[in-house]
Amino acid sequence: LNNETQQLLNLHDKAAKLYHHILINTPAGQSALNYLRKRGMSGELIDQFGLGYAPDQRILKPFFEQQKIDYQLLRKSGLFSEDQQGKLRDRFVERVMYPIKNGQGQVIAFSGRLLTNEKTDLPKYLNSPETPIFNKRRTLFNFDIARKSARKDGKLYLFEGFMDVISAFGAGITNGIASMGTSFTEEQVAIIGRATSQLDICYDGDEPGQNAIDRAISLVDDHRSNQLQVKVVQLPAGIDPDEYVQKYGAKQFSAYLANKEETTVEFYLRFLKNGKNLDNQNELMSYLNQVLKVIAKVDAPLEEDMYLQQLANEFNLDRQTLRTQINQLRQELG
Ligand code: CTP
Ligand code: MN
Ligand code: MN
Ligand code: MN
Ligand code: MN
Repeated sequence: LNNETQQLLNLHDKAAKLYHHILINTPAGQSALNYLRKRGMSGELIDQFGLGYAPDQRILKPFFEQQKIDYQLLRKSGLFSEDQQGKLRDRFVERVMYPIKNGQGQVIAFSGRLLTNEKTDLPKYLNSPETPIFNKRRTLFNFDIARKSARKDGKLYLFEGFMDVISAFGAGITNGIASMGTSFTEEQVAIIGRATSQLDICYDGDEPGQNAIDRAISLVDDHRSNQLQVKVVQLPAGIDPDEYVQKYGAKQFSAYLANKEETTVEFYLRFLKNGKNLDNQNELMSYLNQVLKVIAKVDAPLEEDMYLQQLANEFNLDRQTLRTQINQLRQELG
């Protein structure tokens, strides 16, 4: 590790401890603590994830200046925003602070959440910018813990948000990760592929969530170098994992993950129906073609047969015809 890296890590460690202290032990943290409690967050979880609060004051800058930390280092840390004159200000103000760690469990960045759900011009989550120690495309929230837990469970769960990972953790699902607000990346696929052989995608049960599942599956598909097997757990409409845990409890959440896990083909059989009127012959044909293209990639004959049987039953078609069609598609696809 070079000196600068070490110093930046050190700054983040100090900042995380300060924010955590403010949340837990000071009146300035009370509103944030209430907010987290209202969201069902236990003290244990707050500690586990080192959550904190960046209060209304300019807090970090005086703290580091007192310690005579070099201006250039502060600039590079991403913990401050810089005005025209080069003057630094705390980047995070009035936000619940979620430390983001690297694979070794060292804090490399933060995400800060507003205490309100009301619409403001401020983003709900504000993330650290890219820095010498923080590469968003290569970072996965909770990966340091989840990778170890994946060795036992044989898989990782990919959630959308930090709160989903944290609530799942509270419910005993400790192998959950989330990408960094941006969409899932190739780099993250590669990192996951080195840690485990199965990825269960459990995004929010809304339309953006479903579209994101589709994108994530394609991304893994394109990444031929690893043998990562993808499964999907689709949540009920309009709910995310965190909300599911709060509403139905830990037991029911783990049961849901275990029982509703499906193959990507099963996901597409449903997903590709979206926006189509299957009573219309043309739209049904288009659906069948899309679905057969997905099934054509399955290389387990028994599984393929199952899907074809299912389609034949659902739409009152001849399975043999479907098979002929799929073989034709395979030839076209090479
Ligand atoms: N996100 C972001 N900036 C936003 C909104 C979302 O970076 N303005 C990222 C965050 O990482 C967030 C994830 O996208 O966790 C999923 O977004 P969303 O489902 O809207 O948020 P939740 O995780 O459900 O957050 P919360 O429950 O706190 O509202
Ligand atoms: Mn603590
Ligand atoms: Mn969402
Ligand atoms: Mn959500
Ligand atoms: Mn949520």
